[in-house]
Amino acid sequence: MSEPVVRRVADPEALARAAAGELVRVATRAVGERDAFALALAGGETPRRLYELLADPREPFRDRIAWSRTHVFFGDERPVPPDHRDSNFRMAREALLGRVPAASVHRIRGEDPAAAEEYEAELRRFFAIPAGEAPPRLDLVLLGLGTDAHTASLFPRSPALEERRRWVAAPFVERLGTRRITLTLPILDRARAVLFLVSGGDKAEALARVLEPAAGEELPPAARVRPEGEILWFVDRAAASRLGAAAEGPT
Ligand code: 6PG
Repeated sequence: MSEPVVRRVADPEALARAAAGELVRVATRAVGERDAFALALAGGETPRRLYELLADPREPFRDRIAWSRTHVFFGDERPVPPDHRDSNFRMAREALLGRVPAASVHRIRGEDPAAAEEYEAELRRFFAIPAGEAPPRLDLVLLGLGTDAHTASLFPRSPALEERRRWVAAPFVERLGTRRITLTLPILDRARAVLFLVSGGDKAEALARVLEPAAGEELPPAARVRPEGEILWFVDRAAASRLGAAAEGPT
């Protein structure tokens, strides 16, 4: 794994624009090298503005991405149908996927009790990986950060954090009183690039715990993501307010 690169930007709009530029860079490299771009979208609210920028024909990003070569996956999903207000797929469809002609969109069928097994089978089929072989290498995985330093749906003390074989798990999340479906560390760590997007003062304490852990402190979930490729943290000023000088960019 390369060292994490932390890029500090002024505010949420700058965060979305910086992320859009980075996504264009990674997509261009992937299509140039392999004629395909495998992207896993993050859920939650932070990436919404990024998705809107990527889809907006008035912005300089949409036409710089080879959507016909882009295959869209999801890092996690809630156990709801695709039209539910909590669905990560629904947010992505509204902000992005309904407005760009992606080559393929691979939704996690959160409403299905066997969603985790089904999604792993779909990943295995799409990437043509036989049983027992290493997980696929996604070109870019977008991730968020919770106030408890969870990422995707890997929450503190979740058994899914210890999963070393399955690529997708469906842990029960005590704090939420529901299960979630999530990619696991084995597949996240195979990524060619992981981009965390963190915005807001409410994330400052979690971000400091991840990027500047106190000696002897247990690693929070987001700190457990250690991809073989690049790991980038794009954070706005409010989220970075508890970090030392390590982060690049405006203070
Ligand atoms: C989800 C996400 C989750 C999210 C963080 C941050 O399904 O909610 O995968 O990991 O990225 O909870 O959420 P916000 O961006 O809404 O703060």
